[in-house]
Amino acid sequence: MATINNEDYFQINTDILASFPKHRLPLNLYIFRDDIAVLEPFYRKGNRLTDEQIEKLVALCEAGSVFVSHLDQEVYKQHIVKQLDLVLLDPHFSDGEVAEICILAIAKRYLNFYNQSVPEVYNALYRDVMVLTEYLWADKYRIMPFVRRLFRKAKPERHAVNTMIVGTWLWMQQFKEYTRKDLDRLVLALVLHDIGMCKTPQFILAKQGRLKPEEKEKVIQHTYHSLKLVQKCELTYDEVIHACFEHHERLDGSGYPQRYKGTQISTIGKITALADSFSAMICERCYAKAKTPEQAGRELHSDSRYDTLYSTPLATAFVQGGPMSNMIDMDSKADTEVRWLRNCALVFPQKTRAFAKNTRNVWIVSNCKHSLGAISAIRVKYSVRDV
Ligand SMILES: [Fe+2]
Ligand SMILES: [Fe+2]
Repeated sequence: MATINNEDYFQINTDILASFPKHRLPLNLYIFRDDIAVLEPFYRKGNRLTDEQIEKLVALCEAGSVFVSHLDQEVYKQHIVKQLDLVLLDPHFSDGEVAEICILAIAKRYLNFYNQSVPEVYNALYRDVMVLTEYLWADKYRIMPFVRRLFRKAKPERHAVNTMIVGTWLWMQQFKEYTRKDLDRLVLALVLHDIGMCKTPQFILAKQGRLKPEEKEKVIQHTYHSLKLVQKCELTYDEVIHACFEHHERLDGSGYPQRYKGTQISTIGKITALADSFSAMICERCYAKAKTPEQAGRELHSDSRYDTLYSTPLATAFVQGGPMSNMIDMDSKADTEVRWLRNCALVFPQKTRAFAKNTRNVWIVSNCKHSLGAISAIRVKYSVRDV
């Protein structure tokens, strides 16, 4: 028996447990012994569970007694990124953690669809986007942690997700009343606005310096390709068509492909144009240096080719001291397959009371942003027997 100190554990619920392979789990499990207020190893990853053990595990999980070590959090988080609907079942995630999981999951789904643009692959992207909209539908202010988590490296999936987030936020600033269907369609339209880029030759996308006229024409065609691809997936509603086809149009008629002017451009087209340009400007591109979100927001707001009706929040949100001034680097999270955030809430209130009774095994060491009650949301250290 060994004692492990400085170790964090978090509770796992039955729905998430059920989503793992039934007999062979990819992480260690611990059970909380109420009688002695100690976490004990129950299962070592890779071993095979018998049917009786599975039955016991499910019962313990329903009682709130099954825990996972933070050392396995990466496995846990990657599992949830692959099955995004699980994120809504875990009450221990903070809004920021949910935002990161959603961003990484949707970026992966988008990239898969970008590389293989067939309806079957699109369906997985659609499912994850619906998880996101369900989450945002419950509380529109949940968009805020997403806006603080933008990518700064120019990659197709990162650009798509940035545009989706910024566009959704701008749209929510303007429209206070909308249906769930409006939200679903908007978010899908935004994420898919550039999907036709997958048909643009790579050498053109990577080219330094000016494009030749015929190369420019190929880039312009991505708007048509986007339309064709979304139609192949039976996405024929207005929002997605406007986002794909109008996001390069400008109010003064200087855009493409139709050179629409002013009111000829739809609301979704104008919002997607702003979100698309903002997302492009904050990334390093082969023809331009990256701007800070603050610079990009101000420039777009003062650019008469974009509609100030929708760009107003961009003017101030990213300035020093503004709501988005404290940005979080999403690229390093995506590049390193995610550092696990360690400030998970760990226990339910009744468990905390049990801990408080037996302080031999519990140390309350730091505050935690979750507040399930006066003493419930705490970080603790357990004495644990080694597996
Ligand atoms: Fe585009
Ligand atoms: Fe774009």
